[in-house]
Order: sequence, then C-alpha cells, then structure tokens
Amino acid sequence: MRDKVTIPAIKARKHGPKLTMVTAYDAPMARIVDQADIDMILVGDSLATTVLGQTDTLAATVDIMIHHSASVARANPRALIVTDMPWLSYHVSREETIRNAGRLIREGKAEALKLEGGRKRLPMIEAILAAEIPVMGHLGLTPQSFHAMGGYRVQGKDLEAARELIADAKALAQAGAFALVLEGIPDVLAEIITQEIAIPTIGIGAGVHCDGQVLVFHDVLSFNPDPTGKQAKFVRQYAQLAELATTALQQYSADVQAGTFPADNETYHTNAEVARTLRV
Ligand code: KIV
Ligand code: NA
Repeated sequence: MRDKVTIPAIKARKHGPKLTMVTAYDAPMARIVDQADIDMILVGDSLATTVLGQTDTLAATVDIMIHHSASVARANPRALIVTDMPWLSYHVSREETIRNAGRLIREGKAEALKLEGGRKRLPMIEAILAAEIPVMGHLGLTPQSFHAMGGYRVQGKDLEAARELIADAKALAQAGAFALVLEGIPDVLAEIITQEIAIPTIGIGAGVHCDGQVLVFHDVLSFNPDPTGKQAKFVRQYAQLAELATTALQQYSADVQAGTFPADNETYHTNAEVARTLRV
C-alpha cells in the first residue's frame, strides 16, 4: 500500500509528477476516488449543487461541510482530504474564521482547507495558517462570487485583471498556502502564475500548464442527468454513470414485473418440514 498523501508530499510535486484531485462528498465516493490513486480528495462546496440540488454553492454551510467531510474521512482515504470553507464562514471576523476552520478540522476531519479569494482574504488566511491549518487558495472564477461576477465567467481575460490575479497568486504563495486552485482563466495566465510561484497550481478550466488538475466527481463521470444538457468546456466525461445507472434500474424494474427477480439463489429458505407445516 502506498503512503498517506501529506502536505509536504504535495508541495514536493511542484516540478512533477502532475497532481490529481477529484471531489467526493461521501464515503463510497471517497473510496472510488482513492482506489483510482488520486492524490487529493476535495470535499467541495460544489456539493450544494451536485448532491443537494441547489443552483449555486452559496447554500453550503459549515455544518453541511462537516457532515460530508466527516463521511469522506470515514473511508480512511490515502488521498489528502481538502475541505472547502463555505461562503461567509471566513468573511466576518478572524475569530469566527478560526472557529469555523477548527470545526472543519476537528469535526469534519479535514486535513487542509480551501478558501476562495486573493489579497482581500489574506488576514483570514494568515489567521488559519497561524492555527496550524494548511490552506489551499482558489483564484479566478470563484463560484462563491457568483453574484458579484454576474454569473460564471472566465476571469483574468484583460491585462489589468490578469495582473491582479498574478499579484493575488504571489501573495497567497508568500503567505504560506500549500497549493493554489486556478479556475476558469486563460491558459497563458495559468502558465505564468505556475511559473511565478513556488507552490503547485491545480487547474480547472485553466489549461494544461498547471502543476495538477481538479474535476468534480459528477462532471468527470457524468453522474448528474443534466436537464439542460450543458457542460462546461473544460469537462471531459470519462464515463456515463447516470446513463449506466438508469439502464440498470430499468432492467431491475423489468425483472420485478416479469417475476424473475428475486431468483431462488437470492431468496431465504426454511427447511422443508417447517415450510410444509406453515402452508397447512
Ligand atoms: O467546490 C468545488 O468542487 C471546487 C472545485 C471546482 C475546485 O471548488
Ligand atoms: Na468550491
């Protein structure tokens, strides 16, 4: 068995091999991700949309994140467990931020926390780091800024915005973040940030030059029958799990109707004498 993935081990991968990260929100998903030898499990606040049916991630709370993070931890994955700090859990005060971060570690069994934003969030990031909690940054298209961004849009496309993002990335690395998610930015910008900072960058919709990649479980496995049928450009679907599950359940339903499920070997029996006596 391979060793547990640690923060120093992630940092040491700056110059390869490339890092992999996939979201998981419960124990069986964590086992599946872990069996694929993925380096990091992200208990993302994307669970608000992927498993809770919300339209954005703003609905995730600290209690919800703890509930799912602890479920993932019970699978005892080899992968590093990184849990998202949900919206408003690190925006109010340093005290509240540290308490929320502490709960995600102590109750949610997270091994590192991810939070969105750049220099604006530095005081909170520094406070969490000072409490000995590893921090993963998240820049670019930050879904918790949904309303402020006016929807999910690629960020850092013009020169000024790109320079701001580079400065944010440097500030996060300087502050002591152990890795940085880059979401929804042009590839050249992600490439420059990756070159400019000493910590690994993990891309999602940020091109091939990042030190690693992250995808959402339900996206990469097509596990959500999407009513709109629309997928982000950066998603590659490696399986069609929703389709597979639907077909399987249709077969189950047909077998029940046909009386071919359950079969004899799927049935409990009593001894012939008891059966005969019961029948009379
Ligand atoms: O919540 C999430 O799944 C994320 C990834 C998209 C990076 O933050
Ligand atoms: Na997230």
